[in-house]
Amino acid sequence: MKPGLDPIEHASRDEIAALQLSRLRWSLRHAYERVPQYRAKFEAHGVHPDDLKCLADLGRFPFTTKQDLRDNYPFGLFAVPLRDVVRVHASSGTTGKQIVVGYTRADLEMWASVMARSLRAAGAGPDDIVHVAHAYGLFTGGFGVHYGAERLGCTVVPLGGGQTAKQVQLIRDFRPTMIVATPSYALNIADEFVRNGLDPASCSLRIGCFGAEPWGEGMRGELETRLGIDAMDLYGLSEVIGPGVACECVEAKDGPVIWEDHFYPEVIDPESGEVVPDGQPGELVFTSLSKEALPIIRYRTRDLTRLLPPTARAFRRLAKITGRSDDMLIIRGVNLFPGHIEELILQDKKLSGHYLLEVYRDGPLDQMEVMVEVKPEFAHASSEMKQCAERELQHGIKAWLGVTTRVRILDPGHLPRPEGKTCRVIDKRRA
Ligand code: DLL
Repeated sequence: MKPGLDPIEHASRDEIAALQLSRLRWSLRHAYERVPQYRAKFEAHGVHPDDLKCLADLGRFPFTTKQDLRDNYPFGLFAVPLRDVVRVHASSGTTGKQIVVGYTRADLEMWASVMARSLRAAGAGPDDIVHVAHAYGLFTGGFGVHYGAERLGCTVVPLGGGQTAKQVQLIRDFRPTMIVATPSYALNIADEFVRNGLDPASCSLRIGCFGAEPWGEGMRGELETRLGIDAMDLYGLSEVIGPGVACECVEAKDGPVIWEDHFYPEVIDPESGEVVPDGQPGELVFTSLSKEALPIIRYRTRDLTRLLPPTARAFRRLAKITGRSDDMLIIRGVNLFPGHIEELILQDKKLSGHYLLEVYRDGPLDQMEVMVEVKPEFAHASSEMKQCAERELQHGIKAWLGVTTRVRILDPGHLPRPEGKTCRVIDKRRA
C-alpha cells in the first residue's frame, strides 16, 4: 500500500464496483426526482432509476449532451435550489452558446479532493510550490486547480493565464516546483525564457500538469526537454466537475487515472451509441456518482479515447485523448485529427509545437495548409533549411496520413499565442 493515498485508490475492483453501484443508484434517483428534464427523458426512454440492478444497466439510460445544457441555460438542470449553490462556472462557449455549471458546498469539497488526488498522483506534495497559469474566472481551470493544490498543502501562486513576461519573472523569483497550464501555453512560457536569453530547462520547475486541450506524446517530449520537467496529463471538463476528473501518475506516465469513485466512465460507439468493451476506441461518456448541484447522467463528452486497465492505482485509465469528434477534419475523404499532424511536426527537432492548420476549398477540392514555427533557437536558420523541413513534413503527412498539404515553416512569433486553450484549425470551408 502506498502511503498517503485515499484508501479507495488501492481498493479491490469489487469494492470499487460496489461503491459505484450504490452511488450510481443515488445519482440516478437524485436526477430523476429533482430535475424534471431528467424525469421526462427517463420516462420517454421507458427507464426508471429502480431498473439499475448492475453497473451494465446504465447502458439502458438516455444520454445527456451539451445541447441539453444549452437548452436549459443557465440553471435549468440544477437539482438543488440556488440558495444551496455556492459557485457557478461556465464553459468558454467557443463551440456555441455558453453552458453553466453549479456546485454545492459538498461538490466543491469533492472537487478539491479529486484535484488534490490528481496533483499528488502527478508527483506533488505539501513541499511543492504550484504555479497556476490557468485562467481564474468562469473557466474551471484556475479555481479548480487552486483549491486542489491548497487541499494538498502546497504553496499556491495564483497568477492565472496571460502576462507571459510576468509568468517568467515569477517563476524565476518564487522558484515554483510545479506548473499547471495548457500545454500550448507552457510552450509560450518556455519561448519567453529563451527570448530573455534564459534556458527554461534550468528553471526551478520539476513537474508540469497539462490539460484542457489535446496533446500527444510528441508534445510530452517537447515539454519535458524544454522545461526540464515530468509532463503529466490532467483531464477534466466543466460538465463533469472541471479539472481533476482524471490525472496521470508520475510513477507510470501511462494515461490519466479516472477517479472512478466519483465519475463513472463508459466508452461508446459514437454512431450507434452502444457501449464498447474496455480497450476499444470510441467516445467517452461520464456519469457523476456524487455530484449534488448538477448531476450529469451519461454525458457525451465528444472526446475520443479508450478505457485501459488499472496500473499505478486501482482505477481504470484513459488512453491519451486523440481529439474530439467535432475536431475531426475530413480532407478529400481522409479523416484526420490535428493531433496526428502534431505528432509528425514534433518528430523534427527544429520545429516547435506552435502550429495552425488552415483548411479551404480550391474549386471543388479541399486543401490544407500546415503552418508551423521553428523553435526560437532556429530562428535564423537558412531558407534552404526551412525549405528542406517543409518538404520533409509534407512528405511525412502524405506518407502517414495520405493527404497532400502545403507546408509553411515560419519564424517564431508568427502564429497567434492564445493564453488558454489553443485553436489548431481554421476551417474556411465552413464560412
Ligand atoms: O478544460 C477543464 C480543465 C482545466 C481540464 C484545466 C484540465 C486542465 P472545459 O473547458 O469544459 O474544461 O473543456 C473540456 O477540454 O472535453 C476535452 O475536449 C478537453 N480536455 C480537457 N483536458 C484534456 C486533456 C476544461 N488532458 C474539454 N487532454 C474536454 C485532452 C482535454 N483534452
